[in-house]
Amino acid sequence: MMVVQKTEQALKPILHLEEVYKIYRSEKTETAALRGVSLSIYPGEKVALIGQSGAGKTTLVNIAGGLLQPTSGKIFWSGVARDISRLSSEQIIRARREFAGLIFQETKLIPHLNVVQNIKLGGHLAGIENEILEERTEKLLELVGLTERKKHRPSMLSGGERQRVAIAAALICDPKLVLADELTASLDPLTGEKILDVLDEINEELNVAYLTATHSQQVASRAERIIEIKDGVIMAIHGKRVRLRELGATRRLAVDNQNRLSIPDQFMRALGNPRSFKATLEKGKKITLSLPEEELYEVSEVLTCPVCGALVENSRVCKKCGTVIT
Ligand SMILES: Nc1ncnc2c1ncn2[C@@H]1O[C@H](COP(=O)(O)OP(=O)(O)OP(=O)(O)O)[C@@H](O)[C@H]1O
Ligand SMILES: [Mg+2]
Repeated sequence: MMVVQKTEQALKPILHLEEVYKIYRSEKTETAALRGVSLSIYPGEKVALIGQSGAGKTTLVNIAGGLLQPTSGKIFWSGVARDISRLSSEQIIRARREFAGLIFQETKLIPHLNVVQNIKLGGHLAGIENEILEERTEKLLELVGLTERKKHRPSMLSGGERQRVAIAAALICDPKLVLADELTASLDPLTGEKILDVLDEINEELNVAYLTATHSQQVASRAERIIEIKDGVIMAIHGKRVRLRELGATRRLAVDNQNRLSIPDQFMRALGNPRSFKATLEKGKKITLSLPEEELYEVSEVLTCPVCGALVENSRVCKKCGTVIT
């Protein structure tokens, strides 16, 4: 009945975020862009991050890629023993070259360098031997279909071609993960589709995982797993392969004021639609679901504010409207 096989669960994640919070503070305002996000990405996985504008997608991608410091929480990259948020920026830059390639909506290419030089640049900085660099560049040029244009400068290329250069450049150090933010947003649908084909091909050939933030159904439908984020919290994980362990860590279940526990369909499906389970509410803290298969899930208790409907955690006072929930 279980959706996830043991072997898959045993795989070690290449990226792991643990209870990540990001609060942007200015003199007058405080924005909680991420509120306790935990997630793992596994080798070769294709993951999309979806959610409305302002949900926290860009913040999450930037924190996962070590471009932005979290306010609290831990970030682990495969190949790096420590939580990367504890490293200096020089250490992060060095570690990132081997760990992840980054692609943005419009990745900045160096205007006076041609395609080949732009692709190779990161490899030179990482000190990759010339011979290996040549070989990789040729292969990547072929994969992104730009062999014919390798001497062109960025200004002589179309938007889609420039994005393909950005993909090849992101892959030059042979990373385990591609982190992308709206990588097709500035392209027309057909060009976007070609870029996604390139990414799929790279995923298949090189087993590079990707995590891409997107508004586009076109992008999301290519992913094996779709992480939905709302107001800085992971609301749901959709996909062909749902990882139960992760759902347990991130899924919020709400107990209403009549002590009713509503369990969303998607969560039930992920649990294998058990006909029965036991739910124990430890005083004010955690709900433990005990399934017939003897799998245990711990879910933090969340109350729903009866006035504004916001979810209230670890407290009886609604942070949004100040109501005391009795
Ligand atoms: N540098 C910043 N300073 C202050 N607040 C910020 C900053 N960057 C983002 N925010 C706020 O944090 C929240 C999350 O922003 P983020 O850019 O991560 O959202 P997003 O999901 O990527 O949105 P979009 O789909 O519009 O790109 C928003 O409320 C945003 O206004
Ligand atoms: Mg964004």
